[in-house]
Amino acid sequence: MVEKREIESLVRKHIESKFSSRKQKEYIVAANWKMNMSAKETRRFIEKVKEEKIPDYLKTVIFPPYPYLPIFQEMLRYDKITYGAQDVAKEEKGAYTGEVSAAMLADLGCSYVLAGHSERRNYYGETPEIVARKTAAALRYHIRPVVCIGETLEERQGNRYHEVLKVQLDAVRQEIGDALSDCIIAYEPVWAIGTGVIPGLDQIGETHRFIHELLVSYTGISERASRILYGGSVNEKNVKDIASVQFVDGFLIGGASLKAENFMNILRLLRVDGS
Ligand code: PGA
Repeated sequence: MVEKREIESLVRKHIESKFSSRKQKEYIVAANWKMNMSAKETRRFIEKVKEEKIPDYLKTVIFPPYPYLPIFQEMLRYDKITYGAQDVAKEEKGAYTGEVSAAMLADLGCSYVLAGHSERRNYYGETPEIVARKTAAALRYHIRPVVCIGETLEERQGNRYHEVLKVQLDAVRQEIGDALSDCIIAYEPVWAIGTGVIPGLDQIGETHRFIHELLVSYTGISERASRILYGGSVNEKNVKDIASVQFVDGFLIGGASLKAENFMNILRLLRVDGS
């Protein structure tokens, strides 16, 4: 018997394939709410964003805290706006108190999951290997992982960031091989997250190119098929400039995604008509 979750996954894939056949440059605009918002605020936010006319080339994804995922499932079933979880267990199931499995996220209609956000790496001891296993767990349930990678300020200043990003990507590649091409990569310099400081556009461009070339050499992914988001202090003031950088395919937005108005302004700025 075909499971409900498989049907949902097929429908989501269909919606995605419609999206990816468009000519217009596409952006993934993702909101990472971290440990913020309430149930009431979540409902209000969704109501407002649902009213917004979002063109197909702007793929909107929201990552709320786990407890609010059922609200997204209820309010956005089969909507163009998709959602996902901020984390996932690396194990399949069993005696892992407090963990949430990929199967459970699939049941909740999640299309995406964040893996390896720097806050998880730094505060919860997630090693590149753990992040890689979480990525693999998501893929087993057809949930697209957004693998977050990024260097610290010290690593950037010491000119070691290429090496650091490569180690983070290599661990994932070792675990999932060519399926790396099914992942979205979010480049988030740790020193830009929540600080209001962003790298220069040339630095973003150079680093995204580096990540893109690694992905091409690893997976043979075609020129335009890699998906690399930028994250770290993105807001209404800087999003347009960053969007113009080559190999920037979207954004992972924290602070500026907590108010529907700010988030929608970012979407509006990315519209070709700019309205
Ligand atoms: P920020 O967070 O936009 O608040 O810097 C981004 C992130 O951590 O994903």
